[in-house]
Amino acid sequence: MIRIFSILAGLFFSAALAWSLLLGVINVSKDGLPHTVEKAFHEHPKELHLASDGFFGKFDKQQLQRGFQVYSKVCASCHAIKHVAFRDLEALGYNEAEVKAIAAAQTVAGKDPLTGAIKDRPGLASDHFPPVVYAGTGNPPDLSLITKARHGGAAYVYSLLTGYEEQPAKLLKQFPDAKTPDGLHYNPYFANLNIAMPAPLTSEGQVTYSDGTKATVDQMAKDVSAFLVWTAEPKLEKRHQTGLWWIGFLLFATVLAYMSYRNIWAEKKGH
Ligand code: HEC
Repeated sequence: MIRIFSILAGLFFSAALAWSLLLGVINVSKDGLPHTVEKAFHEHPKELHLASDGFFGKFDKQQLQRGFQVYSKVCASCHAIKHVAFRDLEALGYNEAEVKAIAAAQTVAGKDPLTGAIKDRPGLASDHFPPVVYAGTGNPPDLSLITKARHGGAAYVYSLLTGYEEQPAKLLKQFPDAKTPDGLHYNPYFANLNIAMPAPLTSEGQVTYSDGTKATVDQMAKDVSAFLVWTAEPKLEKRHQTGLWWIGFLLFATVLAYMSYRNIWAEKKGH
């Protein structure tokens, strides 16, 4: 009797388990994963190829200088790059006098050596880029490390800058509640599709490049993205060089190890 009971109880639990499994499978296949406007309309970054890409990548200094021009002329009114010191700009090919001039054009908070009071003064080459006071909607993040902080890096920044568009009619039809709120701007590359930053690069020639390159919106977006790769990792070239040195060294060590292996076993194997 007890045996029959336990068999029945076992059967019951197995049936309940099988049933819930079946229901789960049916549910997932019926309406898939939760459907949201971000899932449906968010886009992955466009492709971007920069000289600094890949294992042998090196910075294109001319491009970095153009990117710095875009940053200074357009982005600097809202975004700081606090991890960059003015003298770091020498790596882009600016000479000492140019760096001093760039620094002096900025106002930084200095400390009076006698009283300790904070007093504004012109920047020195050793100063970092100062914080930026922003009064508009949203919080512009510091851009020094942004290409490391966002999935897609430079390609993401480039796509974001060139990705502004009208909100698609299809989107509003499918998700009538998802209209871009006032004061925000539709951009399918931004995680939640609506960004507080108005399109910063809007017209050709917004920046006059000192190397004569034509300043299309696309070009400016590429150049400033390349510049932000440099601000996030100024030692990238050095890292690549060190990597190559190590690979060379490991190859050499492998050859040595093989030769000593041959040597040690030569007698035993009767070579
Ligand atoms: C008028 C001010 C303004 C200007 C000019 C501006 N930005 Fe922004 N930016 C913002 C604000 C505000 C945000 C925050 C947006 C948000 O969180 O919705 C932002 C966010 C960003 C982000 C981060 C997006 C993210 O994933 O969080 C990047 C990258 C960026 N800006 C790059 C730039 C670049 C490059 C330029 C110059 C070409 C620039 N911005 C010019 C205001 C500005």
